[in-house]
Amino acid sequence: MKQLSDQQITDFKSAFPSAKENELMSSHTYLKIGGPARLYVVANSVDDVMGAFQKAKELKMPWAVIGGGSNLLVADEGFQGVVIQTMDRAISFDEETVTVAPGVFTGALAKATADEGLTGFEWGAGVPGMIGGAVYGNAGCFGGEMKDCVTFVEAYDVKNEKGVVYSNAECRFGYRDSRFKHEPHIILKVTMKLQAGDRVEARKKIDEIMSKRKDTQPQGAFTAGCMFKNVDFTNESELEKLIREGDEIPPAMLQQKRIAAGWLIDKLALKGKTIGKAQVSPVHGNFLVNLGGATAQDVVALSSFVKMKVRDDLGILLEDEVQYLGF
Ligand code: EPU
Repeated sequence: MKQLSDQQITDFKSAFPSAKENELMSSHTYLKIGGPARLYVVANSVDDVMGAFQKAKELKMPWAVIGGGSNLLVADEGFQGVVIQTMDRAISFDEETVTVAPGVFTGALAKATADEGLTGFEWGAGVPGMIGGAVYGNAGCFGGEMKDCVTFVEAYDVKNEKGVVYSNAECRFGYRDSRFKHEPHIILKVTMKLQAGDRVEARKKIDEIMSKRKDTQPQGAFTAGCMFKNVDFTNESELEKLIREGDEIPPAMLQQKRIAAGWLIDKLALKGKTIGKAQVSPVHGNFLVNLGGATAQDVVALSSFVKMKVRDDLGILLEDEVQYLGF
């Protein structure tokens, strides 16, 4: 990785005196892994995030905008550039329309919408991280997905150098996918439409989601959520090896045409597999856990091992859900 020059750092810091040097990204990721960002800036507003981005661009420095760090693996060597973390926490309500800054925690928004007497985003309580990242990856859980709630996204289109407002269709949401994963954008504001509901009912739903999560996913562990996407198939012949071995594929997965990566990993008895200080969660096969002191290298080695086993034994290629920075 090319080192930033002293001049680049001085120039950036004169525009953003609050920028920190060599900030450990392990403090900003749920996995608690990641070396230093050469420069790290907290952006509390659209102006902050755009200002930091423009300055980095002007000084020809690599840059990355991150959200909550919940679905992020940062290299042990860190990132030779500017990491901009969005912390704009603004939420405003206009009847059933909610306008949200990207730095709002998904869980906090779920609670705020319930308190406002709105329904339709209770599931957000089960998603770690922030709204910007949730839109980027079309996050979802327990039956809800961002694509069901988002009406508009305001963003900056990095390639075409212009501000844009996309409708839901223009966001091209798919399973854990959106246009933002394929074309560089900075997400600036998200508008969602919910439904009028009952405060007490909405809070009850949130409690149910949280307890379902407790039953099926590791709690209090350092993880990046699900490591791999579940596997879509169009035709059962793609599951040749699974079927040949007479495995009983759960009917829900066959019906949905989507095989849970966690189920595949569990089938291969990989839960508990440990490399260095990284472990496949004994609770859920699709979560890799930092047992304390794991390196990014441990996680990459474990993830590669899991992918290789699933490919060799079951003929299925797992795709990463986790995003990588500094590799
Ligand atoms: N299963 C096993 N063993 C395991 C894990 C799962 O047999 O170790 C089985 C379960 O019993 C169930 C099926 O696999 O029959 C699906 O498991 P689960 O209900 O836990 O859901 P998932 O498909 O593994 C998805 C999302 C999660 C989300 C949950 C709950 C993906 C990759 N994951 O997990 O999202 O919280 O549903 O709705 O789509 C994330 O994206 O980071 C994430 C955690």
